[in-house]
Amino acid sequence: MKVGVIGCGYVGLTTGVCLAELGHTVVCVDNDEEKIKKLFSGKLPIFEPNLDKLIKKNKKRIKFSIDIKDAVVSNEVIFICVGTPSNPDGSPDLSYVENVAKEIAKYLDSYKVVVEKSTVPVETAEWIKKTIQRYKKNNVEFDVVSNPEFLREGSAVKDFLYPDRIVIGVESEKAKKIMLKLYQKIKSPKIIVDTKSAELIKHASNSFLATKISFINAVANICELSGADVEKVALGMGLDKRIGKDFLKAGVGYGGSCFPKDVDAFIWISEKLGYDFSLLKEVKKINEKQKELFAKKIEDTLWILKEKMIGILGLSFKPNTDDIREAPSIYIIKTLKQKGAKIKAYDPKAIQKMKQIFPDIEYCDNPYEVAKNSDCLVILTEWPEFKKLDLKKVKKLLNQPIIIDGRNIFDPKKMTKLGFIYKCVGRRSDV
Ligand code: UGA
Repeated sequence: MKVGVIGCGYVGLTTGVCLAELGHTVVCVDNDEEKIKKLFSGKLPIFEPNLDKLIKKNKKRIKFSIDIKDAVVSNEVIFICVGTPSNPDGSPDLSYVENVAKEIAKYLDSYKVVVEKSTVPVETAEWIKKTIQRYKKNNVEFDVVSNPEFLREGSAVKDFLYPDRIVIGVESEKAKKIMLKLYQKIKSPKIIVDTKSAELIKHASNSFLATKISFINAVANICELSGADVEKVALGMGLDKRIGKDFLKAGVGYGGSCFPKDVDAFIWISEKLGYDFSLLKEVKKINEKQKELFAKKIEDTLWILKEKMIGILGLSFKPNTDDIREAPSIYIIKTLKQKGAKIKAYDPKAIQKMKQIFPDIEYCDNPYEVAKNSDCLVILTEWPEFKKLDLKKVKKLLNQPIIIDGRNIFDPKKMTKLGFIYKCVGRRSDV
């Protein structure tokens, strides 16, 4: 099938490349000229495992362009994958979506299925439909479909090709058939619903996962106060199939471009519809508090922060990505700097991006350089390479053998045995 994808961010690029992998011919469009230039020269504008390999493998079936017309004309299915950033009041800014809808209307040359893939509030598909209808210049028919994406950064390709489910929100039999044909090769269950339900599935899923994380973080705080171990509590809870073990990892709070924004948007849309989703407000509050509590933990361990050198391991909001949007590291570094601490940092992928926010901190080439002469080591992202650190070497390099771990990557007993003062989240560190 011939497909156009508008927006080459994490979702758009992964969608385009994976659809090519499924055998479709894809035109990926973005109005960011730099991004398209990079893609033309075979470079990816983002780091996402396996995406580069799939682009190379399917290069005959993928074209890149800065002209939205190329995504529309003579393509049967057009995906809208542009950003929906938060406005200051938490509502999503849908102006990019509206602009794209207007542009699609301009170039509509034959029947098309317009697919909303960006995360949007319920009722957006209706607005896209109205907008295209208003601006189109002929009688060409089209359908608008909601097909939310559930991929995670860092495992986006796998999540796209082997999803738990594919949600398709449609209002016409014709569009349903086309969408089923598009995803024919993917064997996962396909849920066919109306567009509003599809839109809600996405916001409700992300908000539920964020709730799970805030819940376990709240439990972690109770564990710290009572002397229990949150890892054990999460294991015991997670083995109950009704609860499930995923997304029960306590830590320094969730970040990224999705959960914080989608929780805000879901609170906002609920309020607009006349419902006070106070549970979600609390989820957000717990997440913010979690970062504050962690910064306090560093201060409580080191006492005076002024002039102390703090080594940070991990800047991205989670492993296997260079994305630092809403990363807890930003809040923690800002707070430590405000209190006069000096910062050294290392991340396998996110240093370039972090330099744009904190150009004045010291960036290192590896974790050992960070440890050298630092007054403590703080872990903010659970990159696999941190789990394999030579801890004896780290101990020798540090001014004081102090590790404050926001992701619980080490065993507290072993750390104490090795002679570390080891602080983590929701687990006793003096055992
Ligand atoms: C999330 C969802 O998981 C995807 O299903 C969805 O498609 C995507 O948002 C989106 O809406 O586009 P993503 O933001 O890439 O994906 O990352 P996650 O793996 O969900 O992690 C989000 C944050 O939660 C990270 O900061 C992570 O460290 C944190 N987290 C996750 C925890 O603190 N504990 C956990 O147990 C799991």
